[in-house]
Amino acid sequence: MPPTPRPPRRALVTGGVSGLGLALVRALAARGDQVMAADLADAAPEGVLPAGVTYRQLDVRSDADWAAACEAIERDWGGLDLLVNNAGIAAGGRIEVAEMSEWEATVAVNLLGVVRGCRTFTPMLKRQQSGTIVNIASLAGLTQAPAMSAYNATKAGVVALSETLLHELGPHGIQVSVVCPSFLRTNLAVSLQGADTLAEEGKERYLSRAKRTPEVVAARILRGVDAGRYLILTDADGRVGYWTKRLATPLYRRAMTVPGARMAAVERRGKPGG
Ligand SMILES: NC(=O)c1ccc[n+]([C@@H]2O[C@H](COP(=O)([O-])OP(=O)(O)OC[C@H]3O[C@@H](n4cnc5c(N)ncnc54)[C@H](O)[C@@H]3O)[C@@H](O)[C@H]2O)c1
Repeated sequence: MPPTPRPPRRALVTGGVSGLGLALVRALAARGDQVMAADLADAAPEGVLPAGVTYRQLDVRSDADWAAACEAIERDWGGLDLLVNNAGIAAGGRIEVAEMSEWEATVAVNLLGVVRGCRTFTPMLKRQQSGTIVNIASLAGLTQAPAMSAYNATKAGVVALSETLLHELGPHGIQVSVVCPSFLRTNLAVSLQGADTLAEEGKERYLSRAKRTPEVVAARILRGVDAGRYLILTDADGRVGYWTKRLATPLYRRAMTVPGARMAAVERRGKPGG
């Protein structure tokens, strides 16, 4: 039997003009969904968004921006079916080198930006008794490599928040998914600008050389959301990391020791960065 056609959804994607957010916006629009892409700039970059997609300036750190977006969606669409909390920034650095201002900036976007999105739209979704919240965390939210403490902590926070909401909002007919991808090729490295110059090595090694494309990851996310999955692991690295940590903790700890030891050796040789 052919699958039952899915009615179009009304979707809001934060961080929607670059990388994974943009790929999600394009994939949703291609499926016939009504999409609002939101991001920091006053206007979307020329020619980036598909026809029919609305753009809105929304800094996820701003309560006023969230309230205005919610009002506009209520007025123009009468409700929302899918909220994708995707906006995020990179952060790296050893605990004693990365500055408190980096922690504050990372928490403000990666964790509190998601909290604000969930807080803003939950009353609407509860009234509807329907809707889906998709929080883009990271594999860093499940397995914690060294010299990324601010990023890891915020992403683990998003996982904890999502699991809480799964239990809290499920009874209201609201689906919650958390997405934990490993490295993929986007513009995320641009936002990594901290005090620890050793973090540059990780940026080069992992972020800039990532092979996975946002389009492939976006397609996997939407399949997971359609299937009603809570934890969406979009790649083999994620599945291996997740299950190794759960089922083979000593192996996981050993794997996590390797990059730490590499960095300690560089540090002992007196490389820059603190
Ligand atoms: N790239 C990776 O390897 C990777 C891996 C796992 C998870 N992620 C997560 O995926 C999400 C998307 O990142 P990406 O890799 O596509 O990076 P990206 O830099 O290409 O896109 C991030 C978008 O978020 C926007 N943004 C940043 N701060 C914002 C704010 N305060 N308000 C609104 N928008 C803001 C940026 O302008 C940008 O358009 C992030 O949450 C990131 O942590 C990325």
